[in-house]
Amino acid sequence: MTLGSRRAILAALPFVYLLSITPAKSQTAPEQKPQMADEIFKNVQVLRGLTVNEFMGTMGFISASLSMNCIDCHVTASASDVARFADDTPLKQTARKMILMVKTINAANFGGKRTVTCYSCHRGADRPKAIPSLADQYGTPPPEDPNEAEIATPPPAGAPSAGQILDKYIQALGGPQRLAGVTSFVAKGTYQGFDTSDEKVPVEIFAKAPAQRTTVVHLPEGDSVRTCDGRTAWMTSTGTLLPLPVLELSGGDLDGARLDALLSFPAQIKQAFRDWLTGFPDTAIDENPVDIVQGTDAQNMPVKLYFDRKSGLLLRLVRYSATPIGVNPTQIDYADYREVAGVKVPFRWTVTWTDGRSLTELSTLQPNQPIDASKFAKPNPPRATPR
Ligand code: HEC
Ligand code: HEC
Repeated sequence: MTLGSRRAILAALPFVYLLSITPAKSQTAPEQKPQMADEIFKNVQVLRGLTVNEFMGTMGFISASLSMNCIDCHVTASASDVARFADDTPLKQTARKMILMVKTINAANFGGKRTVTCYSCHRGADRPKAIPSLADQYGTPPPEDPNEAEIATPPPAGAPSAGQILDKYIQALGGPQRLAGVTSFVAKGTYQGFDTSDEKVPVEIFAKAPAQRTTVVHLPEGDSVRTCDGRTAWMTSTGTLLPLPVLELSGGDLDGARLDALLSFPAQIKQAFRDWLTGFPDTAIDENPVDIVQGTDAQNMPVKLYFDRKSGLLLRLVRYSATPIGVNPTQIDYADYREVAGVKVPFRWTVTWTDGRSLTELSTLQPNQPIDASKFAKPNPPRATPR
């Protein structure tokens, strides 16, 4: 399988660059105060007051909105020397002006809400089009995007309620009793994505109910680790360096990590969100009709879940993470459900987000394994990850 899109190479690069950033102030203690971008980076003039995680999410949003790679705006040397991200280029200076322009447009016209974003005008191009395209107007419209389905008013008659769809899912997985019987697991398999140049590398996943989960990707250069301890979440990397030895996740990315951990034990799904809604128009994913429910997370952002109408199983999850200038979507597609201890578990999933796409395929999943608490403990100072 190829993970590429039409911008495979563009999309593949951003996080590689993110990962090759050397810490500017590595002594910053991760536990005490949030890691702020304007303290760690050298030349931040407009995107002030953001955590490093939010700042990088903003760079991802800009790159995705213009279909640009990091080094389209930044000097090529920043690929190998992080300090050079601070260098100004003409495009970077234009981008700064655009950030201020968008802020002004929204303040003057939309009560300061993020209504107009880079994507509103750019639509994946460096220069927005000004003249309507007759080819677009009279050509074949692009296929419907299920991610853009919105709740219909009035809702379709006879549609099941959100509660009924979620109950059907729990039953499809094996029922609440069997689900309650699995409280931890250790899984192994392969991972491939932007950071492996689409080569398969070993991955290990450790999960413990209700919401602890650690994913260890064994990259040739060293391990890349993403952990949620139930409350906080972070990433570490020994081979390819993050902007900090331990990058704390914040905002929507933190919620996303918590959600991934929670959904390892889906019996709790109803409690994971509030304001469950349904009533979407009929939509399909790969020609499988789906029932969609939408919940609201702690950041007041929607989360959409797409269930196979036939099997009741979860096929897709779309969650959103806010940046100061727009919202980044993340999509997870689940497949290859297999039975483990009487419970159906997806053995394959694809994560697609603004900076790339990755595929995880499990070969083994052992339920109810003892897992040492250190697997979910934040390294401070950064640990050398055992291989
Ligand atoms: C469309 C242009 C554009 C793209 C594409 C872009 N950036 Fe930026 N980047 C900026 C601007 C503008 C700033 C300065 C923001 C400010 O002054 O507040 C910046 C600042 C930065 C900084 C802070 C540097 C310092 O020390 O001050 C880093 C790090 C960075 N970008 C990384 C990235 C990464 C990684 C990507 C790819 C995911 C990326 N950028 C893509 C425009 C861009
Ligand atoms: C209201 C519409 C609009 C919005 C919103 C907008 N832009 Fe632009 N942007 C333009 C137009 C129009 C141009 C081309 C100007 C020209 O042709 O000289 C442009 C040009 C640019 C360029 C220069 C491209 C090149 O190849 O020279 C960059 C970089 C850019 N925008 C970044 C951004 C970023 C980042 C955002 C979001 C913070 C954004 N823009 C939001 C309209 C917009």
